[in-house]
Amino acid sequence: MTTFSADFVQRNRLSDRPLAELTTMRVGGQATVIQLDDRRDLTEAIATGGRWLGKGANLLVGDAPAERIVLRLGRDFETCSIDPLSNGIARVRVGAAHDLAKLIAATTVAGLAGPEGLAGVPATVGGALRMNAGTSTCWMLDWVVRVEVVLPGEEASRWLERAELPASYRTCGLPEGTIFLGCELALAGGNPEVLKATATRLKQAKAASQPLALASAGCVFKNPSRELPAGKLIDDLGLKGARIGGAEVSPVHANFIVNPERKATADDVCSLIYHIRERAWRERAVVLSMEVEAWDCPDWLHAHPALVNSDAALAPVA
Ligand code: FAD
Ligand code: EPU
Repeated sequence: MTTFSADFVQRNRLSDRPLAELTTMRVGGQATVIQLDDRRDLTEAIATGGRWLGKGANLLVGDAPAERIVLRLGRDFETCSIDPLSNGIARVRVGAAHDLAKLIAATTVAGLAGPEGLAGVPATVGGALRMNAGTSTCWMLDWVVRVEVVLPGEEASRWLERAELPASYRTCGLPEGTIFLGCELALAGGNPEVLKATATRLKQAKAASQPLALASAGCVFKNPSRELPAGKLIDDLGLKGARIGGAEVSPVHANFIVNPERKATADDVCSLIYHIRERAWRERAVVLSMEVEAWDCPDWLHAHPALVNSDAALAPVA
């Protein structure tokens, strides 16, 4: 049982709540959740060894009560400041707790181009940095010039230049356990009306091809390659609409597992993931890798499907 200093308890928000309330998939067991509002308490928060949660839009959390504390950045990390344009470029400093949609709204109104390419991606800035969130046109780290992080094993924050991040498709490339506190972007000027129209068009395209109204964690698997999108592969396997308990392969986009009635358990979702991976391996010789991060879920979720004991993994598919 972790105990906290009186200052920590007074300056931050502690609660016990189901992580289903804090994830877009709407599954996840009970956890002690700390919202770190006061930056002075960062060291004490890090000492808990807890896991950092953003908007919970890329997470699958197990049903059992979490053993580790869950930490969220709050007030002192929600700031956003935009400098005036200088030589056609404006610097934007934004905290990791800031909502990505709000950042996009602010840069669009200010006539600064770039972030609007991520319109419709649910995220905090921290989660978007960690995942290097992206669309067909851009990645989060495209406009970042430096990030403020605490590296694993360290207590003090430091700034890293963009070139120090070996980022690629859906990863910032920094070690697991790195904490993002904020970043600085360099954005070129653009026409606010054009930027707004781009954001609207991207959101409409997303809504037309993805089940945005239902609980999900976005695409479950990384695309094996540009030529082989996971959604097309799963669709071709005839798995749209396949169901285990309350979890369903979306009939709209086969790389989304949805929780339509919000009654799915993490076990339902894990079994469905196993079923998809097993079919992709057996029928197409493709090993699908998880894009969604799994907390307190069975290790076989990531194992080669040929090596998984299906009795343990597979509830019957409806
Ligand atoms: P979380 O899900 O809370 O966390 C994800 C990971 O980041 C975890 O490992 C967590 O520990 C870590 N993390 C969070 N905050 C911090 C921090 N401050 N410091 C260190 N680590 C941190 N993704 C795309 O890339 N493109 C899309 O088009 C897209 N569409 C989506 C559509 C829907 C409907 C949904 C539900 C999801 C979609 N996603 C998409 C997935 C998700 O939006 C992204 O992965 C996003 O970056 C997750 O951000 P988050 O704040 O929710 O992070
Ligand atoms: N497709 C199907 N059936 C499906 C789904 C897709 O045949 O059920 C086909 C589409 O017709 C298209 C191809 O597969 O020809 C690719 O589909 P789509 O354009 O929807 O893109 P995607 O590769 O499936 C990626 C990201 C999304 C991101 C979109 C748009 C991954 C794993 N997914 O999807 O990101 O929103 O591009 O930029 O990279 C996420 O990461 O969570 C996510 C939703």
